[in-house]
Amino acid sequence: MSGIYIHVPFCAKRCTYCDFHFSTTFSAYRERMILSLKDELSLRKKEIKTPIQSIYFGGGTPSLLRKEELSSLLEMVYLHYHVESDAEITLEANPENITKNKAKEWKLAGINRLSVGLQSFKNDDLKWMNRGHNKEQNKNCINTLYSVGFDNISVDLIYGLPDLKVSEWKGFLKKVVGMGVKHVSAYCLTIEDKTKLKHDVENDKIIPLSESKQIEQFNILCSFLKEKGYEHYEVSNFALNKNYSKHNRSYWDRKEYIGIGPSAHSYNGKERRWNISNNHTYMSRGTKIKNWYNQEELSRSSIWNELFLTGLRTVWGVSKKEIKRLGGLTNQEAKEIKVLIDRGDLFDSGKAYVLSETGLLFADSISESFFRVS
Ligand SMILES: C[S@@+](CC[C@H](N)C(=O)[O-])C[C@H]1O[C@@H](n2cnc3c(N)ncnc32)[C@H](O)[C@@H]1O
Ligand code: SF4
Repeated sequence: MSGIYIHVPFCAKRCTYCDFHFSTTFSAYRERMILSLKDELSLRKKEIKTPIQSIYFGGGTPSLLRKEELSSLLEMVYLHYHVESDAEITLEANPENITKNKAKEWKLAGINRLSVGLQSFKNDDLKWMNRGHNKEQNKNCINTLYSVGFDNISVDLIYGLPDLKVSEWKGFLKKVVGMGVKHVSAYCLTIEDKTKLKHDVENDKIIPLSESKQIEQFNILCSFLKEKGYEHYEVSNFALNKNYSKHNRSYWDRKEYIGIGPSAHSYNGKERRWNISNNHTYMSRGTKIKNWYNQEELSRSSIWNELFLTGLRTVWGVSKKEIKRLGGLTNQEAKEIKVLIDRGDLFDSGKAYVLSETGLLFADSISESFFRVS
């Protein structure tokens, strides 16, 4: 099983917190970018040996793609790759781009899953975040998607926002549950370097929420969605009736995938590769530019580190079989496992070591404690 990620590096405007790769001044070269993405799809067709189980249009803002642009990219995928008939084909969509016509186009093109960036239901927050939509559009866009027959819908929310109150957060969760979406991704606000948010925090224009309040909101998120039947299957992801994201699972299960487009990452079990995060350099590749991506062979220690980093984030945990295949735990690591189990942060499922709900809060620092250096 493998996946294809296609990065669409365009956004209508810059959200204050976002450090993903995108440009807001792309109209003059959008056609050239699409040709370039298609060319990379063709160029790398031999890299994937197993059938494609998921195709993911991420960004940036893939919902800005025109009908012909989206279908020509998908045609290129079908021309060069063996795509399973039940493949998950996801498009990330911003609420302001979702109209009945657009949704019909996506359906006709073959998109079968939408990941919608609702983020918040508070207009004041959506405003300082510089989002292009309001809370009314949040509600309407999901109904629009249902009305054209989409039923596999995931929504993104951000908690831990500076003025977000517990009662408001509960209200947002109630709203998304009420919408009947099958999947929720909820992220705690991260203050990323080189963003307007970071600048505003440094200049005391925005006071971040305290860590204890962020933890309180994470706990509410987990308990509320659990009560409503959603399975907390990864630190930030919740699924109803096992509607996991196949695409994200391939990352966490360390399956092979190729990432197409500027800034996109690829992985094949032995190497990692990442394309340059610059639209013009990316589009000039093959002519003047030779170094349009970087690649590294994974050392034994990085394979080990990734096993813990990805495994401990999910309910499937770190497989004991994999640990054994990589030479087993050292005495020190076995002691650390015992400490975590005694503390209630980890449990032994028989086949794997899995973080408990309390452990999940510290997934990254716990996995780091198992990191090895070459
Ligand atoms: C590639 S981004 C955005 C997709 C889409 N363009 C949108 O804006 O809805 C994917 C998700 O990451 C989350 N995200 C991005 N930056 C974040 C930050 N600084 N802190 C927390 N979550 C963030 C948002 O929930 C966002 O929907
Ligand atoms: S959050 Fe989404 S829309 Fe906003 S700048 Fe980032 S990628 Fe673009």
